[in-house]
Amino acid sequence: MPEPSTPAGAPPRGTLPPGASPADAQPGAVEELLALDRRHVWHPYGPMPGRSTPFVVESASGVRLRLAEPVYGHRELVDGMASWWSAVHGYGHPVLDAAAHAQLDRMSHVMFGGLTHEPAVRLAARLAGMTPGDLEHVFLSDSGSVAVEVAVKMCLQHWRSLGRPAKRRLMTWRGGYHGDTWQPMSVCDPEGGMHHLWSGALPRQVFADAPPSGFDAAPDEDYLAHLHETVARHAHELAAVVVEPVVQGAGGMRFHSPAYVRALREACDEHGVLLVLDEIATGFGRTGRLFAAEHAGVTPDVLCLGKALTGGYLSMAATVCTPRVAEGISRGTVPVLAHGPTFMGNPLAAAVAGASLDLLLSGDWQGNVRRIGEGLRTGLAPAAALPGVTEVNVLGAIGVVRLDHEVDVPAATRAAARAGVWLRPFRDAVYVMPPYLTDDEDVARIAAAVCAAAEEG
Ligand SMILES: Cc1ncc(COP(=O)(O)O)c(C=O)c1O
Repeated sequence: MPEPSTPAGAPPRGTLPPGASPADAQPGAVEELLALDRRHVWHPYGPMPGRSTPFVVESASGVRLRLAEPVYGHRELVDGMASWWSAVHGYGHPVLDAAAHAQLDRMSHVMFGGLTHEPAVRLAARLAGMTPGDLEHVFLSDSGSVAVEVAVKMCLQHWRSLGRPAKRRLMTWRGGYHGDTWQPMSVCDPEGGMHHLWSGALPRQVFADAPPSGFDAAPDEDYLAHLHETVARHAHELAAVVVEPVVQGAGGMRFHSPAYVRALREACDEHGVLLVLDEIATGFGRTGRLFAAEHAGVTPDVLCLGKALTGGYLSMAATVCTPRVAEGISRGTVPVLAHGPTFMGNPLAAAVAGASLDLLLSGDWQGNVRRIGEGLRTGLAPAAALPGVTEVNVLGAIGVVRLDHEVDVPAATRAAARAGVWLRPFRDAVYVMPPYLTDDEDVARIAAAVCAAAEEG
């Protein structure tokens, strides 16, 4: 998740150590932790030594983060971020805790080469069954970025195996984000992804213009033609088109019409290019459909999943492909997928992921996402009248307030904390995607905090 390296801007702090209650405050313990943190620990997109003062979290339960010491009188903050889209069931959920404990009692990890185990097999079968169309072969890896690397490798290897090695470039549209390892970075938005920093080093990919904004907006005919034309012009050198369907997340928090995803599917089919949909952020219900591709009625050749896969408990991601992609790879002189990370299929993560999917599918996720969306729509409406706010958008359980300037992250974070809520705005967007079990009162509180953050940021 790209974000500025500006400090969280924590308010004046007390002296509670992690794990302590106010009764056993030890003066200086939190200060010591933060001093060590600044000296030794890289944070996302952070400088070294660190310059920020993050809030110290000692535990998390339900939709609340419990801090080691109070901020603005709040020992707990309501989480508006679901830990970057992942904690859809909140924290410390008894079903997920039980699954993790039970699996720990059996084994936390064994290698996946030459061995297999029930949690990974059941999870893969489950994903094959619930993802769109004929997506059925599952590669389990450790993080979203790696899932995208694997997707790219599948596509390149597919074409190489079919005797078409020239098809090795990728096409995407501007405004995307696909992770921080090398191939994903090459299809991130060139400006937001800081391509200038890597010029000459990153693979040069093909960029279409960013999709026009608006989930419900009528599709722009000129843009549809632009997509078709770009795929057609580069098809001879394209292994795949890689995009986030319907929601561009960390590249800018913008929604677009599903018609553009459909257009890409058609263009890819027409011109012999594979389509990779990156649903690492949108997968598992966040947009109101189990997968955002369903809004477009499209099955990609390769689908990337992560984040909410384990309910945010452990790092695991999945790259799921169709038989056509797998068969292509199998026809090569090296008829195997050339990838095999140490922690592939990790049993602990797979067991929790299985439990998380059970929990999701046995509950009313759709009703909850709809309810949260309605609460955000109501609660964020006043933001539209704030000076500097250019748009307010809600889709599924995602709310975005956009400003006409870069958010002052420390000021916005402080404003949200004052309202008892954890937010992490970036660029020009104050945004939220709360856990699905967030109740109406907390949704209203989160929305009020977004308004306060937008006003002060
Ligand atoms: C759409 C998308 N793809 C890929 C990634 C990278 O995932 P990870 O941070 O787990 O490597 C992210 C992370 O924000 C994402 O939103």
